[in-house]
Amino acid sequence: MTPIEYIESRRDANLAELVEFLKIPSISTKSEYKPDVERAARWVMEKLRGQFETVELIPTKGHPLVYAESRQIAGKPTVLFYGHYDVQPSEPDDLWTTPAFEPAVRGGNLYGRGTADDKGQVHIHLAAFEALKKTEGRLPVNMKVIIEGEEEVGGAALDAYVKEHRDRLRSDVLVVSDTSMLGPGVPSVTYGLRGLNYYQIELTGPAQDLHSGVFGGAVPNPLTILSELFAKLHDKNFRVTVPGFYDDVATLSRTERKALNSLPWKMSDFKKNVGAPALSGEKGFSVVEQLWCRPTLELNGMWGGYTGEGAKTVIPSKAWAKFSTRLVPDQKPQKIVKQVEAYIRKLLPKSVHCKIEVLSSGKPWVAPYHHPYFEAAHRALEKGFGKKAVFIREGGSIPFVTDMYDAYKIPCILMGFGLPDENAHAPDEHISLENYFGGIKAAAQFYQELGRE
Ligand code: BES
Ligand code: MN
Ligand code: MN
Repeated sequence: MTPIEYIESRRDANLAELVEFLKIPSISTKSEYKPDVERAARWVMEKLRGQFETVELIPTKGHPLVYAESRQIAGKPTVLFYGHYDVQPSEPDDLWTTPAFEPAVRGGNLYGRGTADDKGQVHIHLAAFEALKKTEGRLPVNMKVIIEGEEEVGGAALDAYVKEHRDRLRSDVLVVSDTSMLGPGVPSVTYGLRGLNYYQIELTGPAQDLHSGVFGGAVPNPLTILSELFAKLHDKNFRVTVPGFYDDVATLSRTERKALNSLPWKMSDFKKNVGAPALSGEKGFSVVEQLWCRPTLELNGMWGGYTGEGAKTVIPSKAWAKFSTRLVPDQKPQKIVKQVEAYIRKLLPKSVHCKIEVLSSGKPWVAPYHHPYFEAAHRALEKGFGKKAVFIREGGSIPFVTDMYDAYKIPCILMGFGLPDENAHAPDEHISLENYFGGIKAAAQFYQELGRE
């Protein structure tokens, strides 16, 4: 049996196995899910045990890492596969058609938290390893696998591990499936990601909540002040007003600009996926440029005061917001933190205290894609999907990719099998079964292609 025939014969078995993985609510950001996060790590470990000679669960200050290594064969490239077994929270739960952790198939898609980001895509590779090992007796390359449990919280554990064990993760090429295809039926290789700084701000005005009738009119309201602050962080052209914010932004070359803007990307699909009455973005750039090549500042959540049923006349003592900056080459995350914090402090009135925390920080990434390994990826994707792949950049962030690229300067091959409308991080997240099964075939062929290099 060839690996492809084996993959065909295992359709139902693979899907059933993925469902089992998806049922574990491995939400890394919430401490009450810690046991489930660990259970998901062990699940991955058990699955790898069948295919790899070395398999380890590596404890960290946060969630464990799962590491595996096949027996090394001389003359074959060493390939590192990276993915994450943690997922985002499922709320708002009432907006899911079927519960987030009870995976269900509908209309050619598998629904559930983690289907696209990233358990489904990790499982694509686990299934490919199994097919190769079962049919050929061994993997075609020297394989290393690292699956982390803190990607969705920008955790520091993996970066610390990379720095301490430089030789262990050293490899000739990094393979990741945690991104999206440009559109249905358009296999894609991603060569650029944005970086991310994530912040939380707390404003304190009055020492305690106050009756808004007794005190209102003479005292600061931290919620109003916070709203005013965020209203000032963009100008009318939707540019971020933080001084120096754009200083280090690399301008696109004419060739790259042309290439990105002539991809088979459809404005009508994008608008449909967004579902807002109109779009809004930085003036002077196409939507593709706004999404992939321009930095942003986004308010992610804001709270304080009374939000329960009915009315409560109160001036809150405190107000909070979570916000983030997406970064592009050559912006430096630490420099941006300083600029953002300095500007916020300058804008705020003396009537409130301000505390700013940086919850995570990750660098942007863009890399050349002219290397034989990319051609191998191209051939494999064409075999798996029957269509030529395109080279794209994306707006999301995967801190490990930048860490690896900086540490070893190796080709990083991001072959994503998600789709932009698959609701990652939102209710009704799903993966197209066609991409899931096509992905397994493409991944298996890719490892075989790498073994032939
Ligand atoms: N898989 C995504 C990143 C992604 C999504 C890349 C779509 C390209 C296309 C990843 O799991 C993710 O969500 N990362 C976070 C960053 C993290 C530090 C919280 C993100 O981008 O918000
Ligand atoms: Mn992901
Ligand atoms: Mn994610």
